[in-house]
This record gives sequence, structure tokens and C-alpha cells, in this order.
Amino acid sequence: MLAHIQPAPPDPILGLTEAFRADPRDAKVNLGVGVYRDADGQTPVLEAVKQAERVLVETQPTKNYLPIDGDPGYTRVIRELLLGDRAEELADRTATFATPGGTGGLRVLADTLHHVESDATLWMPAPTWPNHPVIFAAASLPTRTYRYFDPKTNALDFAAAKTDLAQANPGDAVLLHGCCHNPTGVDPSPEQWAELAALAADRELLPVIDLAYLGFGDGIEADGQGVRAILAACPEAAVILSFSKNFSLYRERVGAIVVIGRDPQVASNVLSRLKQAARRNYSNPPAHGAEVVRTVLTTPALREQWQGELDTMRERIKSTRTALTAGLDARGVTLSASGNAFIAQQRGMFTMTGLTTEQVVAMRERHAVYAVDSGRINVAGITPDRLDTVCDAIADATSAG
Ligand code: LMR
Repeated sequence: MLAHIQPAPPDPILGLTEAFRADPRDAKVNLGVGVYRDADGQTPVLEAVKQAERVLVETQPTKNYLPIDGDPGYTRVIRELLLGDRAEELADRTATFATPGGTGGLRVLADTLHHVESDATLWMPAPTWPNHPVIFAAASLPTRTYRYFDPKTNALDFAAAKTDLAQANPGDAVLLHGCCHNPTGVDPSPEQWAELAALAADRELLPVIDLAYLGFGDGIEADGQGVRAILAACPEAAVILSFSKNFSLYRERVGAIVVIGRDPQVASNVLSRLKQAARRNYSNPPAHGAEVVRTVLTTPALREQWQGELDTMRERIKSTRTALTAGLDARGVTLSASGNAFIAQQRGMFTMTGLTTEQVVAMRERHAVYAVDSGRINVAGITPDRLDTVCDAIADATSAG
């Protein structure tokens, strides 16, 4: 049987890291996978995380299994982080569920939605994170796309998004990126969030919000405005959180699903289905990352420390965006009809450069600068000492046509 298995193609993002590791050139730069690097090119464990881990080593009483939905102390603090001053009011309409990372959360939610409503379609923005369609297909959840990004203007094509979503049927789901859209870095304005929320409510769509970069755009409060707008208008919503980036806990696989139902019975029914989906996938969630997040968020000094570290990461990304714009301007490179200013205006780790796949391949082959074939770069991967290398590689690739 095994002899019939053909090799799978490399993953478009994680496969790039494998190629990068195998590249013997010293001056190589990985702008593929969305991992934050500091100015020295490192992805250190946050100090708040280190301190929480010390506490856990001393106090953790057991490694017994967690409940399928995770530790209640973790899920409570996640609900409070996400819902803020509405957490108490919405508590009995909310199902909060610990997951192995955001990917695990997306898969469990997709399994659950498909189980509940097998004809419902989930509408994804175009473009979106390349793993989204793969996860939903694996869960047999039918998908369609709505236009989101206009590559000619490097901006949100809001009129097109609304036109496409007007075709969605009641009971369909719409995938929204809560902030720092991956791969474009282009988010709706507060007014556009309010319009999207009204559209979802009018058409009776379930908003499914992927929130993997909370705090990386303009801070925790500002980055939560989309979720708040949706919850103000829609009776039901699902949010998938990841703490890979904002706690730098990538390999610990820590995330959550927060589902708000129209009444407590709905929330309880959904929770039971989430448990069923998790049990048949991986049984129950890993504990370590969730314990760290809970400890940091419930210890005022650690929470303050973490917010400072998150601010530092966000500010470095913003200043790198400005430096990249200036570096390209200085070389006479223009990545869009309106120049390079869009790079500094976008939010989060990613920007769609507009580079073609051929140009991306040229950067990789001639300069050892690795970007995703779609032209997405991880701005958070550019260190000050590699900025010139990246700008030169883009200048060379674009001048070669
Ligand atoms: C990315 O888009 O690079 C990150 O979300 C990491 C991943 O798993 O793809």
C-alpha cells in the first residue's frame, strides 16, 4: 500500500523555511514564514513568558489530561481578553475552547460547522492565508471567495467585497481577518467594519473571525475594534485566536475558539460539538502554552511586562515598514502606481509587494532572499543589517523585469 504513495508538494510557506535552511549562503534572509525577529534576527522567548514558566515549574501540580475544552482558568481569561467589558454580559452565551494553535482552532471549528450545516458555504477573502482553503477542504466545508484586495491600488476593494458577499445565503459563514490581514496587511476601517457587520447581520451570515495578530497592528484595544463591531451588530459569531505571534509561543501551539451564540442553549450545544470534533482529532489540548498565557494575563506585573514586549515588537515592525519604503524609494523602485507608501500604511507582519512569482524566484536564486511565491513578504523578518540586501534584491528583481 505505501509503495503507491506519491510525494506531497512542499507547503507554500513552511516548505520555504526548509529550502531556506538548506541554503548554504551566509547572507540569506527568510521573509517567508510569519515569525517575528528582533533587530538581531532572533525570535527570543519573551521575558514575561520566561517568568511565567519559572512560576509553572514550581507550582504546576500535575500533568494529568486537561478537559477537552481546556483549563477553565485559561478559557475564562481568554474570554475576558477578547470581550473586554462585555465579557460578563455575554458569559452565558459564549463557548470558549482551548485549541492547539490557531490552525487547530480553525480545523475544529470547520469540522463543527460542516457537521451542523453540511450545505453551508464559508466565504473567504481573496487572497487569504494559503492554509485557510486547505483546512476547510480537509473538513469538507464548502468554500467560495469574495474579492478583498485590489492589487492595482494595494488597498481594500470594499465595493467588490460587498457585492460578492451580497450573494451569500442566510446560514453561510464569512471569514474575516480580525486585524493585520494575512497576506495583504490591509484591514477595513472602523466605518467599513460597521458596514461589514451590518451586512452580515442583514444577510444572516455567521462571521468567523481569524484573530492571529492581536496587538501587532495598533495595539490590543485598537486591533479588537473589528470584533467589537461584529458583536455589536450580529447575534452570533466565532473568533479563532492564536497566541503564536503575540506571545511568541509558536512551537507551543496555543490558541482558542470563542463562539458567541444567540442564547445560552446555542452556546452549550456548540461547545458539545466542538468537544466532539476535538476528541476525534487530537483528544484534548496541550497545556503548557495555555498555562503560560493564563499565568501572564492573570499576574498584573507579567501582563504589564508582556504588553511592553508586544509594543516593542509592533514598533519594530512599523519602523521597518518605514525604512523599507525609504530604501526602495532611494533605489528608484516603485512597487505600485502610487509608489511605496502603502508598505508603511499597512499593518501587521505582512505586505503584498506586487512582485511576480518570477521576481520572487529571482530574489531567491540571485540574492538568497526568500519570499512567498505570491509576492508576500514578512516585514518582521527584515533586520537593520539586512535591509540593504532586501532592497537591492527587490531592485534587481524588478529591473530585470
Ligand atoms: C504565516 O502565514 O506565515 C504564518 O501564519 C505561519 C504559518 O503557519 O503559515
